[in-house]
Amino acid sequence: MSKEEMINKGAYLVNFGGCNDCHTPKIFTDMGPVPDTTRLLSGHRQDSVLPLIDTSLIGPGKWYLTNNDLTVWVGPWGVSFAANLTPDVNTGLGSWTEDMFINAMRNGLHLGLARPLLPPMPFMGLASLNDEDMKAIFAYIKSLKPISNQVPNSILPNDITEQFRK
Ligand code: HEC
Repeated sequence: MSKEEMINKGAYLVNFGGCNDCHTPKIFTDMGPVPDTTRLLSGHRQDSVLPLIDTSLIGPGKWYLTNNDLTVWVGPWGVSFAANLTPDVNTGLGSWTEDMFINAMRNGLHLGLARPLLPPMPFMGLASLNDEDMKAIFAYIKSLKPISNQVPNSILPNDITEQFRK
């Protein structure tokens, strides 16, 4: 498969796989939020104000989505933010290798080797993609416009201090 065919296949899989639902910030239409195509897969906006967390809405079996961009989730795991998947070297996947990407997707690990990825990243379903599909997705991601956007670190439940609470 040529490079171009791989990228096209990756775009197809990303669109079908719903990656933009979480990893792309949104613009608003009469029909609700749609992905902002000028910021594809750039993750939770670094300049957006973090909504205060209502800890009464979290606990066993309870979780919620906090913002209109659909990029921040709060649950028993703490607070998670959709990652920047664009090939920006400092804030995205620019320095990732194909192996790191496959390990992240298949084993649900941050950077492909560190802590387990938090919900709602649906790696359990995505893990069954074969290597060829994973490589196509990675080729597509690498072909995107790099966007410098530093997504905040996830926050563990015990670190949801007063300043973040509603
Ligand atoms: C339902 C929301 C959701 C969907 C759909 C989703 N993701 Fe994610 N993804 C997340 C969240 C949230 C994180 C950050 C998790 C964390 O901080 O542990 C993440 C993290 C990642 C990471 C790890 C980044 C890192 O720094 O380690 C990769 C790679 C990734 N997603 C790729 C994808 C791809 C490719 C798709 C589509 C096939 C996809 N995701 C679909 C929510 C989602």
